[in-house]
Amino acid sequence: DIKGFVFDLDGVITDTALLHGKAWHQTADTVKSEWTPELAVALKGISRMDSLEMILKAGGHENDYTQAQKEQLAEDKNNYYKTLISTLTPADILPGMDAFLKELKAKGYHLSVASASKNAPTILKGLGIIDMFDGVVDPASLHAGKPDPEIFAKGAELLNFQPNEVIGLEDSTAGLKSINGAGEVSLGIGDVQEMHEADINFTDTAQVSLANIANSSYFAG
Ligand code: BG6
Ligand code: MG
Repeated sequence: DIKGFVFDLDGVITDTALLHGKAWHQTADTVKSEWTPELAVALKGISRMDSLEMILKAGGHENDYTQAQKEQLAEDKNNYYKTLISTLTPADILPGMDAFLKELKAKGYHLSVASASKNAPTILKGLGIIDMFDGVVDPASLHAGKPDPEIFAKGAELLNFQPNEVIGLEDSTAGLKSINGAGEVSLGIGDVQEMHEADINFTDTAQVSLANIANSSYFAG
C-alpha cells in the first residue's frame, strides 16, 4: 500500500528548473561553452558542482579552471539564482500541484522532499508550503547525488516507510533513475520520451491527482 510521497522540487512543484537553466546559461556564456537544449535537459536534478563540471566539459574547458575558480563560478551562479528565487510566492506553484498536495494531506499521506538543491528550504518557504512536508532530505548529507538511489531512499526513510510504500515524483531522468534504484514507484512529469523509465507518466503537473494515479496502467493494469 502506498503511504507516502517523496517529491522532487525544481520542475515538479515549481518552475525553478527554468530559473536554474537561466543562471547556468549565464555560466556557460562566461566559460564559453555552448548552451544547448540538450545540455539544459541533462543538467536537471544534477548537483551544483556536478552541473558546473558538465558545463565546462561541454566546451572542453574542464581543465582550464582551478578548483578555487570553479568554486567561484558555482558561487556566482548561486548568487544570481538566489536573486531569481527571492520573489517566489504561492502563485509560483505549478498548475495542479497545490491541489494535489492538499488532497494528499487531507487523505493522511505523509510527504517528504528529495531535492538536490541546497536552496530547497528557502523555496518551500517562499511557496508557503514547507509545513506540508514531514521532512526534507539534506543534500549536504549525501554520498552521491541523483542518479544514485540514496536521496530517494532517504526520502522514504524520513517518513519511516519502506521503498515500496512510497511514490517518488520527478521531472528529470537522473531523478527517475534514483527513484527506480531505490525500489520506489516512479512518477515522471514531462515528455513521454524523456520520462520513459517512469512507472507512471504525466506530461503535465495539472494531470497529477490520486484518481489519475489510481487509473494509470501501473495501478489499474
Ligand atoms: C536540483 C536542480 O533540484 O538542484 C538542479 O534540478 C540544481 O538544476 C540542483 O543544480 C542543485 O541546486 P542548488 O540550489 O543547491 O544549486
Ligand atoms: Mg527536478
